[in-house]
Amino acid sequence: MESMKALQKKAISDIEGSKTLEDLRNVEIDIFGRKQGRLTAVLRSLASLSAEKRRVLGGEANKLRAKLQGKLEEKKRSLEKHEQARAMQSEKIDVTFPGVKKEQGHLHPLTLVRMESERIFNALGYAVVEGPEVENEYYNFDSLNIPKNHPSRDQWDTFWIKSDRAAAVKGKREKPEEKYLMRTHTSPVQVRYMEEHNPPFRIIVPGKVFRHEATDASHDFEFWHLEGLTVGKDVSVANLVYTLGTFFKKIFGKESTIRLRPSFFPFVEPGFEFDISCLSCRGKGCSVCKQTGWVELGGAGMVHPKVFEAAGYAKGEWQGFAFGVGLDRIALMKYKIPDIRLFRANDIRFLKQF
Ligand code: DAH
Repeated sequence: MESMKALQKKAISDIEGSKTLEDLRNVEIDIFGRKQGRLTAVLRSLASLSAEKRRVLGGEANKLRAKLQGKLEEKKRSLEKHEQARAMQSEKIDVTFPGVKKEQGHLHPLTLVRMESERIFNALGYAVVEGPEVENEYYNFDSLNIPKNHPSRDQWDTFWIKSDRAAAVKGKREKPEEKYLMRTHTSPVQVRYMEEHNPPFRIIVPGKVFRHEATDASHDFEFWHLEGLTVGKDVSVANLVYTLGTFFKKIFGKESTIRLRPSFFPFVEPGFEFDISCLSCRGKGCSVCKQTGWVELGGAGMVHPKVFEAAGYAKGEWQGFAFGVGLDRIALMKYKIPDIRLFRANDIRFLKQF
């Protein structure tokens, strides 16, 4: 059996060496445990000793028990204090520490340009109108005087929709054999609107258009157009020039000017393409404007009599001008973006800049 001295030495060093309450509990079991406790063993062995030895050893053992119990109690209190302090430390809150900022969503650059365009045209008396993105051949082409053999009707220029027509919005001139496509421009909304409304009116039609196109830095197969249509009794090219000029000055700044060049679109006569003075070089000539000082922005013209006829208006009664401009192009120039595909690439590094 272990000597009392050795027992005492080990027990005290174990108690003092305990780092946690858990350690201390194990030490307590090692000394006082009912089955294997070392002091328990000593006390148990007293029964087999002679009365004399039992008295001496028993007295010593009881003293040691009281001593060790006292030590255990003392150590326990000190460890409890420590553990409490540690818990408080870990729960401490630094109220001066900066919080985690919540990310807030924001508008896409194309949405910003569309909304600004709508505000400007609203101020000029224009209503905002929408039309279907899945369009039929009649509204996209025939009603706009675009002949059957026109290259834009080719399957390589237009996304034709196979046979399911359920998603298409029916118009007045629906024919059962009509073919469907993703609209190639917003001009079909001209006829759709005129079928339902009498002049005078001014509308703009912002919307997505689709072209079967190989993409590059300035071409995408999906982009935004902004169509405009003004119909009244005395509407002239001068009104068209004033309206477009005012719009672009508001979008790009007072110093920007526009010019019209004669061009051809089947649904206007006369027809024009219009350019804006280059914002990068202020008209002097640079790589953006290919040294011309001008950047092409869209098409325009006086509404063709055939289009009024398609809308069901009496011959010769109304005059109007129409224009179509790429919203992507406006955004590219306004924010000096080098590649049109960035708008739809969903790259957060790009989008976060607006
Ligand atoms: N729809 C034409 C296009 O997609 C743009 C256009 C040209 C619209 C002349 C017009 C216009 O309203 O008068 O290229």
